[in-house]
Amino acid sequence: MRTILIAGNWKMNMGPKETAEFFTQLDDAAQKNIEGVEAAVCPPFVSLSAAFSARKSGSAVKIGAQNVHFEDNGAFTGEISTAMLNVLGCDFVILGHSERREYFGEDDAVVNKKVKKALADGITPIVCVGEVLSERKEDRHFEVVKEQAAGSLDGLSADELTKIVIAYEPVWAIGTGETASPEQAQEMHAFIREQLAALFNEDAASTVRILYGGSMKPDNADELLKQPDVDGGLIGGASLKPADFSQLVAIAAGQK
Ligand code: 13P
Repeated sequence: MRTILIAGNWKMNMGPKETAEFFTQLDDAAQKNIEGVEAAVCPPFVSLSAAFSARKSGSAVKIGAQNVHFEDNGAFTGEISTAMLNVLGCDFVILGHSERREYFGEDDAVVNKKVKKALADGITPIVCVGEVLSERKEDRHFEVVKEQAAGSLDGLSADELTKIVIAYEPVWAIGTGETASPEQAQEMHAFIREQLAALFNEDAASTVRILYGGSMKPDNADELLKQPDVDGGLIGGASLKPADFSQLVAIAAGQK
C-alpha cells in the first residue's frame, strides 16, 4: 500500500519567527510516527533553518523546500542548490508548481532537469501538474496533464519514478476555495497512473504516490483521501494553521 503524504506548501508565507511558532503549536499527535502516513511542510528557503531548529526531537514531520536549481553551484543569482538543501537535511522539494510555471516561466524541460538533479542528490521531488480553467472548459485537461507528466518525467527510469511524488493540482482550484470534486480528482489521478504505466511500467505506476492539491482543508480532505488513487494532499492555505494541519494529518491517519 502507498503511504499517505500530507505535505504543506507554505508558498511565500511564514518567516523564521512564524515557522518556529508553527512547530511549537503543532499537536504532538500530528508529529508522531503514524503507520501509513507521512507529514511534511515546505517553508520558504529563509525559514528552513528555523524549521529544523524548532522541530521537536523525535518529531516525524519532514521538511522540504519549494524549489531548487538544477546546477551544482555557480553564477545563478537568487538560486539555491540541492547541496544546500542537503546540508540542512531537506527530505522533499516541490518542483513545477503552477505558480512557478506561470510567474517564473518554468516549463516541462526545466522541471525535468530539476527532477533529475533532486533525484541524483537524494531529495524526493514532488512534481506538480495540473490544467488551468480554460483547458478544463475546453475539455483538454487530460491532454494537458499527460503532456506535463511526460515532459517533466522524461528520461527517468521506472525505478526513479517510484522515488518521486506527483501532485495533481488543478490551477482553478488553487487558493480559490473551489475544490475538484472527489470524482474529478479520482478520475484524473487514475488517468495519470494509467499514463505512467504506459510510459514506465505497471509496478512503478502503482507504487508512485499521487497527491491532490487545490483548496484541500479539514472539511473536504476525508472524501478526497478516500479515493483509491488519491495518496495524500499538497496543501497551501490550510497548512499554515497548526490546528488545520494537525487535523489533516489526523484525517489521513483515519483512512487506515
Ligand atoms: P491551496 O491549498 O491554498 O489552494 O493551495 C494549493 C497549492 O497550490 C499547494 O501547492
